[in-house]
Amino acid sequence: MLMSEKYHIVTYGCQMNVHESEKIAGILRRMHYEESATIEDADIIVFNTCCIRENAENHAFGNIGALKKLKKQNPNLLIAVGGCMTQEKGKTETLKKKFPFIDIMFGALNFEELETLINRKKRQKKKVVEIRDEAGEIVETIEPYRTSYPNAWVNITYGCDNFCSYCIVPYVRGRERSRKPERILAEVKMLVEQGYKEITLLGQNVNSYGKDGTTGMNFAQLLDAVASIEGKFRVRFMTSHPKDFTEEVVAVMEKHPKICRLVHLPVQSGSNRILQLMNRRYTREKYLDEIKALKTRLPEAEVTTDIIVGFPTETEEDYLQTEALVKEVDFASAFTFVYSPRQGTKAATMEGQIPEEVQKDRIMRLVELVNALTRKKSERYVGKEVEILCEDYDEKKGTYLGRDEFGRMGYFHSDTNRVGEFVTLKITKANGISLFGEPTENAAKS
Ligand code: SAH
Ligand code: SF4
Ligand code: F3S
Repeated sequence: MLMSEKYHIVTYGCQMNVHESEKIAGILRRMHYEESATIEDADIIVFNTCCIRENAENHAFGNIGALKKLKKQNPNLLIAVGGCMTQEKGKTETLKKKFPFIDIMFGALNFEELETLINRKKRQKKKVVEIRDEAGEIVETIEPYRTSYPNAWVNITYGCDNFCSYCIVPYVRGRERSRKPERILAEVKMLVEQGYKEITLLGQNVNSYGKDGTTGMNFAQLLDAVASIEGKFRVRFMTSHPKDFTEEVVAVMEKHPKICRLVHLPVQSGSNRILQLMNRRYTREKYLDEIKALKTRLPEAEVTTDIIVGFPTETEEDYLQTEALVKEVDFASAFTFVYSPRQGTKAATMEGQIPEEVQKDRIMRLVELVNALTRKKSERYVGKEVEILCEDYDEKKGTYLGRDEFGRMGYFHSDTNRVGEFVTLKITKANGISLFGEPTENAAKS
């Protein structure tokens, strides 16, 4: 009998990409490939790349380059590169020159064709390069091979129409398309029946779901329908864009305790002048009003965010407005980024690019501020009880771990396997952003 060939997938970028890698794994398994324990044992290595910032690209370049040796040792090894980076104008030419040993290049908009491309490569010596400039119909026939139990990601929209002036996503992911509600609801029902306990609805801007007029439902209505599915599970959604985050969504959250009281609402900057240059289409005041409306209905709600520092022309004054906003909102946590010019975007050609030292200084100050706020919040947990969804076992620490509805990580000891269970922890210690606790049923026994 022939031994099965093995695959290894390397993923960069956002959750959207992580989920797409699960779909790529689905395609490879349908072709009878098996997962490889190590990259060295693989017969096919797939890179699912990201190009949101320069360092994401450099990271992939480094890792692809390192494969030259493996390819020499095993000339039958197939190397495929796909994702957002190959979708960039002219990038496949750069990749061809830098890494002539790549066998297959495909894009974020046609990864569904991977099986055909692999089969074509097996018939020909020449490398296979197939990139599409526009997305076709949404493909519903791929069964993802999920590796994130008890969490499951479910796409609701693809692409983005917002064209924030710094962002490359609309260029590499195409126009916004919404999935049909009956498809989404059927997928969530099936996942809940299979025992998944946390469903995250994914889109670049979930609030614009259905804006293309093809679904007969807006995001609030979809969220309501998803949370109305029976069973004990959590619902999350990301990302919300502040220009479209509505009270209707907050009202649906209020109606369903299943929906986590955590909203990821990227603010990007606290300065109205910069927000306008970023083409974000909201003001600092509108953002703060939305937070107020959320917390009025749901006082326990928490907000996380994304922030960019060092955007073209950003002054110290603009930066300090971001700091002030961070303090005022008191975010549960924040992802902070140094602005990275992306070719083809409007901001890349703006005058007033900020020197690296200034960017570095601002990011360091912001990270310190954000960490201090997060730490303080963690300390407030000590002595309280929180329900976490146990996700995994940490071999190094010898503890189980999971997240509460606000995304905070909780660690605990258990003699039995608790992965996939909701566990109530009495928090005994907070360390930075991590919490340590004891399951309340243990405490009751002793
Ligand atoms: N669709 C989401 C996020 C997409 S990308 C949204 O609209 O919020 C994730 C984050 O990367 C963004 O929120 C932004 O903070 C950051 N980002 C995007 N382009 C960037 C760039 N050119 N330089 C630095 N950070 C960037
Ligand atoms: Fe990029 Fe803006 Fe679209 Fe988010 S909403 S993906 S930041 S263009
Ligand atoms: Fe995501 Fe990076 Fe593409 S953030 S959409 S993988 S450019």
